[in-house]
Amino acid sequence: MTNPLRDPLDRRLPRVAGPCGVVLFGVTGDLARKKVMPAIYDLANRGLLPPGFALVGFARRDWEDEDFAQIVHDAVREHSRTPFSEDTWRQLSEGIRFVSGELADPAAYEELSRVVADLDLTRGTNGNHAFYLSIPPGLFPVVLEHLKTSGLATSAPGAWRRVVIEKPFGHDLASAEELNQVVGDVFPSGSVFRIDHYLGKETVQNILAVRFANAMYEPIWNSNYVDNVQITMAEDIGIGGRAGYYDGIGAARDVMQNHLLQLLALTAMEEPLSFSPDDVRAEKEKVLRAIRLPKNIDLHSSRGQYTAGWQGGIPVKGYLEEDGISPESTTETFAALRLDIDNRRWAGVPFYLRTGKRLGRRVTEVAVVFKRVPHLPFESTAVEELGNNAFVFRIQPDEGITVRFGSKVPNTSSIEVRDVTMDFQYGESFVDSSPEAYERLILDVLLGDPPLFPRHEEVELGWRILDPVLDRWSEQGQPDQYVSGGWGPHSQYDMVNLDGRVWRRP
Ligand code: BG6
Repeated sequence: MTNPLRDPLDRRLPRVAGPCGVVLFGVTGDLARKKVMPAIYDLANRGLLPPGFALVGFARRDWEDEDFAQIVHDAVREHSRTPFSEDTWRQLSEGIRFVSGELADPAAYEELSRVVADLDLTRGTNGNHAFYLSIPPGLFPVVLEHLKTSGLATSAPGAWRRVVIEKPFGHDLASAEELNQVVGDVFPSGSVFRIDHYLGKETVQNILAVRFANAMYEPIWNSNYVDNVQITMAEDIGIGGRAGYYDGIGAARDVMQNHLLQLLALTAMEEPLSFSPDDVRAEKEKVLRAIRLPKNIDLHSSRGQYTAGWQGGIPVKGYLEEDGISPESTTETFAALRLDIDNRRWAGVPFYLRTGKRLGRRVTEVAVVFKRVPHLPFESTAVEELGNNAFVFRIQPDEGITVRFGSKVPNTSSIEVRDVTMDFQYGESFVDSSPEAYERLILDVLLGDPPLFPRHEEVELGWRILDPVLDRWSEQGQPDQYVSGGWGPHSQYDMVNLDGRVWRRP
């Protein structure tokens, strides 16, 4: 009997996936081991996966089920967020299978079909399977084609088949459109889940919560009060073992086209009619459509490449000396860009985006910097150290919000005003620690819940914005150099100084 007090639409209830399984392509990759496998385990550990959940690995390796289970086990022990529980592991590992085969071999997909059908019977996955393509995008067409011809992409009545794809969704607009066509030819749009893991972060979702659940901010969230917006995603790591993926891609394609533009869209969009996926996406798309590039891209952008230096007291190599990178590579590891939004709310307010690897410290933040007051009724010496007010979403690692404003310095005979900050820390206000972005997103895939996944229109808009910048940069040759462990190339300062602005110190 259903409990009349439990409203199935009540989002406060734990959302638990129904019977289902995940087929993972690219099991040996970094992403699968560091993010996907641990997130699946964490979900299981939190009781959010069905008891008969199945995880099937597909790769060229000559492995048995037990070998793959060992790989998952090691990944979980090393990278999962929640503590290791033998009980959870036992239950999860009972549903682990491995299919060995070439991505282009029809026989391998026949075997996969057999394994999936067997899981439906033995584990009760009921025909519900998500195909997770954690593989280079160049391989998507061959896998999708075989999922189609083998019948694996087709769901039985009452069951579902979904596909999860990881960025990069193409490397420019033309290739993104092509990719969308290939995917759309096999799976209906409602069954395609594109992962932008920034949207799975609690602090990123909090941008909309803070803006639209409070009365204080929206009245000043516009060009009357805001001077500029600065979105910074700084990483202290280099490219690690990802030379094959990163070289030729670079910082703008890797994170600006997706994560940073998503942060911009959430910060700048209008209030959606509701939080339904269509309403939120419609507003995001509207603001992305209103973005205008500077006329002179050279002056209003900056690109850099890290050289050898020190990081956390350890000497580190320059980009061109990294394993697998050509000494002539012109790939940028730092990118900064000014964008404008041509609408009533934001006309005249520059949005500065920047990201880089091997910078001083890992920090991602969105800083809304306000205009100075029109008049200060104090002696000039009293306010000489006063900066602009700022409202800062601290996305990571120190998750929270900072508000910066001027306050009287105590114990001074005349009024002297200096900047102070007011801080909200997630960890202090809430007891639950935030789940990893991948936990949230994988659970959403299994529940068929799409709001946190970009539609192909958003992806294409991202490329439409960046393509002219990337074209221009490709003519520039070698990017500016910056020393590892510092804050990036000098040209980033020139580009904001030109507008009479300065970057905030993150
Ligand atoms: C990924 C990029 O999307 O995001 C990586 O491909 C980057 O290059 C990573 O390191 C950063 O993610 P996070 O969650 O650590 O900010």
